[in-house]
Order: sequence, then structure tokens, then C-alpha cells
Amino acid sequence: MSLRDRRVQYETAGLDRIDLNLDPIVQWNIWYEEAASAGVVEPNAMTVSTIDKNSAPDSRVVLARSVDTDGFVFYTNYDSAKSLQLVASPVASAVFAWLDLHRQVRVRGTVHQVSAQQSDDYFASRPRESQLGAWASPQSQVIPDRNFIEARLIEAREKFADRAVTRPDTWGGWCIVPVTIEFWQGRPSRLHDRFIYSRDKNNSQWQIERLAP
Ligand SMILES: Cc1cc2nc3c(=O)[nH]c(=O)nc-3n(C[C@H](O)[C@H](O)[C@H](O)COP(=O)(O)O)c2cc1C
Repeated sequence: MSLRDRRVQYETAGLDRIDLNLDPIVQWNIWYEEAASAGVVEPNAMTVSTIDKNSAPDSRVVLARSVDTDGFVFYTNYDSAKSLQLVASPVASAVFAWLDLHRQVRVRGTVHQVSAQQSDDYFASRPRESQLGAWASPQSQVIPDRNFIEARLIEAREKFADRAVTRPDTWGGWCIVPVTIEFWQGRPSRLHDRFIYSRDKNNSQWQIERLAP
């Protein structure tokens, strides 16, 4: 079937203001649990967009590793393209697409690096081969071939042969502190439901508004 003829009717119950928790993080967690229970693949995957030095957007998928009142945290290489962009322009957006449930959540906000302690704690929880991979990969850099990275992995295995793998200084977490969070529920005939949470003027409470689809 051609792309232009492909259409899915979203026969979902819809979303009303009354359904929404006052706290968007609680609401995100409710939808995340529903996505996980429905068997969505990698329900913590989010597409994070950053801005490069020419003000052009750049996007890639990462995995959210914690979502709470602090914000949306993911881990990466601090020398990667995305990290250099975040240092220069500390803002980001993130999108969760839970398509099996006809749902999308969009997050926009400011970013900061998480504490070294928080990165250490998360790094320690990773499988050993992933820890070694963090040492082996100069993420986002051009490399000559696959052997280059495999040789570096062997070097890392030798370096940490008889001991725990420590976190490289060039690896850690970023936290997206939300300014707005939008929940989108697909409905029939493309008249979808959209609600956006924004901080009020005092930055204390969230206000919730319905948006046209
Ligand atoms: C499902 C999925 C999960 C990913 N999770 C991460 C992640 O948590 N951290 C990360 O640095 N890259 C992750 N990646 C790889 C990124 O999409 C990207 O290729 C990499 O971070 C380099 O991006 P950059 O060059 O823009 O910095 C993931 C990719 C996919 C498809």
C-alpha cells in the first residue's frame, strides 16, 4: 500500500480534562505503565531534539532512565554531538510515541547534567559489557572501521580485567526539566484530544489547557 493511502482509524476512548492527573509527571507514569503493559517495545524510548551551532535541529532516540519531579533523565557520552549541542544550547524537546495506544507525549524544557553521584549510581547498575562499551566508543566521531571499536573494547576489557568498571568522566546523565508537557490521544476522524501542561506565572503549579488537534 502506498504511504499516502495508509490510514489507521484511532478507535480509542478519548481523553477528557477530568481524566488527567494535576501533575504531568504522575500522568506520564500512568501512560508509561499502560504502554508497558500493552507490550509497547521500548516504552521508555524518546526522541530527543537539540539545536546545533547553526541553529538547526538534530534528533535521535535515547532511553529515559528516570522520570520524576526532577525531570526526564537519559545517559550518554558527554563528548557526543548531542552533549556538545546541549552544552552550547541547554534546551531540548523529547517525544514518546506509544503508537499501539495511539498516544504521544511531547516534552520541552531546559537541560542540565545530573550529579556525578547520580551518573555513578546508574553506571554501576549497567551490565558490564555496556560499561565497557562506554569506554570503547568515542560516540559521534568518525571511525575508520568496525575493527577500531572492537580493538578498543578489547583494550577496555584488559584495563578492567580484575576490577569493577568505573564510569568514564566523559559519560553521564542529562536531565530535561520540563516547561511544557503535552499529552495526545488519537481519536476517530483526526479530531484527536490534546492537553498541554505549562508552568503558571509563579512557576509553582501546572495549568492544563486543551489544544486543537
Ligand atoms: C532504541 C534506541 C535507544 C537508544 N538509547 C540511547 C541512549 O540511551 N543513550 C545514547 O547515548 N544513545 C542511545 N541511542 C543511540 C542514539 O540514537 C544516537 O545514535 C547516539 O546517541 C548518537 O547521537 P548523537 O551523535 O546525536 O550524539 C539509542 C538508539 C536507539 C534506536
